[in-house]
Amino acid sequence: QSLLPAGYTLRALRSNDYERGFLDVLTVLTEVGGHTKQEFTEQFNYLKKHNHEYHTITITEDAKDQVVAVGTIFVERKFVHKNGLVGHIEDIAVNSNQQGKKLGLRIIQALKFIGAQRGCYKVILDCSEKNVPFYEKCGFKQKEIEMAWYV
Ligand code: ACO
Repeated sequence: QSLLPAGYTLRALRSNDYERGFLDVLTVLTEVGGHTKQEFTEQFNYLKKHNHEYHTITITEDAKDQVVAVGTIFVERKFVHKNGLVGHIEDIAVNSNQQGKKLGLRIIQALKFIGAQRGCYKVILDCSEKNVPFYEKCGFKQKEIEMAWYV
């Protein structure tokens, strides 16, 4: 937290972050869907009920009271590695006008910390070729190949 630039706060997602532009930040990643507040709240409440599995964090810009960076770690339970836990980092996004201030790095560091605290034996993620240097700076190594099937 102290490593963030002055005037920014890292914290867990809150139920009223809909009003702080949480979903707008995600639009740098993909199509988001134009949720109503109720649709956001339904998903928020599900994640809250499963808060041992889903950890979504944000960085807010204090002066504007707006969300500017977001990320999630999902903790998967396995049989292998003796009922091991694997952390999946998902949906990392930094507002385009806030990129390059190490906010993405701080989000990843915080998610890695949560994964380690939860007892994950590894933390993994999928990314595009162009984001490989960013994740390498965050301490990740390239491994395996992603396969996808779209319904
Ligand atoms: N190529 C090379 N280096 C990079 C790149 C890049 N594309 N992006 C960041 N870096 C480097 C930075 O220069 C910095 O290096 P330094 O420590 O030597 O100065 C280091 O990585 C940390 O960079 P940050 O400032 O923390 O990066 P930023 O806050 O801009 O966040 C991110 C990076 C998340 C990729 C952001 O640009 C973004 O939101 N992009 C659009 C959405 C996206 O692609 N998200 C990731 C999808 S993958 C997933 O969600 C699992």
